[in-house]
Amino acid sequence: MPNRQALILGASRGLGLVLARELTRRGWRVIATMRQDAAELRASADASNGRLTVESLEMTSPGQLAALRERLAGRRLDLLFVNAAIDRGDLPIGEVPTGMFTEVMITNALSPLRALETLRDLVAPGGTVAVMSSEQGSVSRNTEPGYELYKASKAALNQLMRSYATRHADDGQTKLLIDPGHNRTRLGGPGAPLTAQESIPAVADVLEAQAGAPGLRFLDRHGEIVPW
Ligand SMILES: NC(=O)c1ccc[n+]([C@@H]2O[C@H](COP(=O)([O-])OP(=O)(O)OC[C@H]3O[C@@H](n4cnc5c(N)ncnc54)[C@H](OP(=O)(O)O)[C@@H]3O)[C@@H](O)[C@H]2O)c1
Repeated sequence: MPNRQALILGASRGLGLVLARELTRRGWRVIATMRQDAAELRASADASNGRLTVESLEMTSPGQLAALRERLAGRRLDLLFVNAAIDRGDLPIGEVPTGMFTEVMITNALSPLRALETLRDLVAPGGTVAVMSSEQGSVSRNTEPGYELYKASKAALNQLMRSYATRHADDGQTKLLIDPGHNRTRLGGPGAPLTAQESIPAVADVLEAQAGAPGLRFLDRHGEIVPW
């Protein structure tokens, strides 16, 4: 399919940057966002012959989401992919300050859904809306200690995405929550088993394979269902 177009929110570094590069390499036109100037993303855009373009977005700002929607008016997206998220360490929930709790929940759960609601009408009827989730958001697989706030934020994201999918069940769009595996990024840490270069091509395969199949699925990078 020539000239497929994707918008990736949060592509300055880590998995989002590698996904922007991978889709561009596969022939997609990609719009990728950063919130501060990101040299690596800029360099990839400069080398892309116009196929990768950069926009600015602080995803937690409703005003900036609305402004991005205005700037992209008239575009037709085949894929809207929300990648951005944060982690604020490994405190047990009783030691998490209220400000930290709200920051992580606003960034990882509320803002991705606000982004989908603001931008979804740019997505073609047979297109895909996807959010980077995590196996850590699986309630039934939460059997190891640690990362309680991050896990809760991804579980909240998954639950909100299920509500979104119910509310927009008839829009014909494919809806995905993606678990990319544990990767060595700033968020994943230096001890993670995977690199983004290993996992993101598999994620891109899943995105391409799922295109055109409406409904919501929570899938890992092999295309296998992750249990809620
Ligand atoms: N790494 C893993 O092992 C792993 C495993 C499962 C799921 N994930 C998920 O994969 C996604 C990417 O993670 P990563 O490992 O690549 O993390 P990362 O290297 O820390 O990158 C996070 C990205 O999100 C952006 N971002 C954060 N908050 C933002 C905001 N408020 N507005 C706009 N952009 C924002 C960052 O931009 P700045 O450069 O401006 O900070 C950066 O581009 C996340 O959703 C994460 O939860 C990661």
